[in-house]
Amino acid sequence: MTTDTILVIGANGQIGSVLTEALRNHFGEDRVIPSDIRQPEHHIGHFELLDVLDPDRLGALVDKYRITQIYHLAAVLSAKGEQAPLPTWDINMKGLLNVLEVSREKKIAKVFYPSSIAVFGPSTPRVNTPQSTVMQPSTVYGISKVAGELWSQYYNLRYGLDIRSVRYPGIIGYQSMPGGGTTDYAVDIYHKAVLGQAFECFLREDTRLPMLYMDDAIRGTLALIDAPSEKITIRTSYNLSGMSFTPAEISLEIKKHVPGFQVSYKPDFRQAIADSWTQSIDDTVARRDWGWNPRFDLALMTEDMLRHLGEQYQVAGF
Ligand code: SER
Repeated sequence: MTTDTILVIGANGQIGSVLTEALRNHFGEDRVIPSDIRQPEHHIGHFELLDVLDPDRLGALVDKYRITQIYHLAAVLSAKGEQAPLPTWDINMKGLLNVLEVSREKKIAKVFYPSSIAVFGPSTPRVNTPQSTVMQPSTVYGISKVAGELWSQYYNLRYGLDIRSVRYPGIIGYQSMPGGGTTDYAVDIYHKAVLGQAFECFLREDTRLPMLYMDDAIRGTLALIDAPSEKITIRTSYNLSGMSFTPAEISLEIKKHVPGFQVSYKPDFRQAIADSWTQSIDDTVARRDWGWNPRFDLALMTEDMLRHLGEQYQVAGF
């Protein structure tokens, strides 16, 4: 039985909500304290309101529950960030610095902080992007994640904080909806397909991006957290790869199951963000250090997504 007690910040979000459930299964129901800036619609067990820009409240929660691990998932993502660059910087950076400082002061044993493929930019090698490479992103979200990776590494080197991170690609899952990202279309498209609706894609049909199924993302995150500290050779953030596809390719895969599915394309400002990112990721170092090994490809993910969403919407035939 673990003695760890875990605070999840941003627990209502696309990844936070699923990770909270997984952590409860992994560490025990009572050992996980979800928190977010808003009350969730429904919750069982603990929940705490927390604005990550309030370090006193963060510190008080750590004391109240004797927190030993923090998962900091609260952030404004790529597309939403471009609508309000300076507030996004404040939330993403001050939020992280509050988590780092409270973790240092209160001797938190482990911190998880996700980075993103948004750290890459137009000058990064686009295919099989290496672990260590040029990072000159063009979004405020990307800039905040590059800075965040370096601050994480700084706290590890300077104070010995055991902080771990992965660069998530676009995450696709049936359990929750994404918000404010450029890869969000790849979740929405499945909902439209199951509901029998046409889908209008905000990216061009040939826009190839790295993606990862939620189940793999969660499994990988837990594996990274469980790995012995001496195995962790990267304290900025690990490249993580699952699959890469274009809107045309995911549409074709869905049409194998939903033959009449209609997809049209109307690229908007998110096209430029997607074009600035890379297409596929080299995750050799994560595989070597802590055994990363994704299970889902586009075909398997599509079957699983459609089956679960068919159940959720009570639509027969999936
Ligand atoms: N899914 C994120 C986004 O699109 C990438 O980290 O912003």
